[in-house]
Amino acid sequence: MNGKQAAGERAVDYIKDGMIVGLGTGSTVFYFLQALAKKVAEGLQVTGVVTSMQTAALAKELNIPLMDLNEATTIDVCIDGADEIFVADGSVYGIKGGGGALLFEKLVAEAAQQRIWIADESKTVTQLGAFGLPVEVVQFGYQQLERALAKRGYNPVLRRSADETPYLTDSGNYILDLQFEPITEPLALATELKHMTGVVEHGLFNQMTEVTIIATATGAVSVAT
Ligand code: A5P
Repeated sequence: MNGKQAAGERAVDYIKDGMIVGLGTGSTVFYFLQALAKKVAEGLQVTGVVTSMQTAALAKELNIPLMDLNEATTIDVCIDGADEIFVADGSVYGIKGGGGALLFEKLVAEAAQQRIWIADESKTVTQLGAFGLPVEVVQFGYQQLERALAKRGYNPVLRRSADETPYLTDSGNYILDLQFEPITEPLALATELKHMTGVVEHGLFNQMTEVTIIATATGAVSVAT
């Protein structure tokens, strides 16, 4: 067992019969989905709301019933991973979008009553920003934004796929990964990025989670609320 698996499996304890569950994206969520599918096969009734095409494909393969975000009048709980997790003054801040799913992840998280992050301990940091901050941008004229971000010292790099073509999100947008040393004002930065025309969404998830489930490489799990 590794940390991602231990955290992912523990999250299943939060899923009760009849719940509508936001299904995050990534390699930690992979373990959560495996464990959830096992419970569903045993009779647990849940409906998932996915945060990416990748998760939709996996959930279908695992026979987890799904509904569209449009149809979900409420989402009871959303389980998702994170790229960095930083706690300050009792609030949790994080960077997400390493897997490119930040926009749908944020939409589902915002619709959820309770948000739970699952991660191995390597994701916990004492300051944000060593991980590049993903910013989803529209394709049209994106180099204008790139230049504007560079001017502000944010070191944008267009994300590329393995074949070197620009990486495309599930919405057909590009991602600029920004580099900071470090992010000292995540709330102010989030507001600033939101106000730049062409930015669709950024990967700062400020005070958007109620529970963190963090596990060590040996599988020791700690839960913080
Ligand atoms: C997807 O875009 C991301 O936000 C993931 O949730 C995040 O990168 C965590 O991924 P892992 O669980 O694969 O580390």
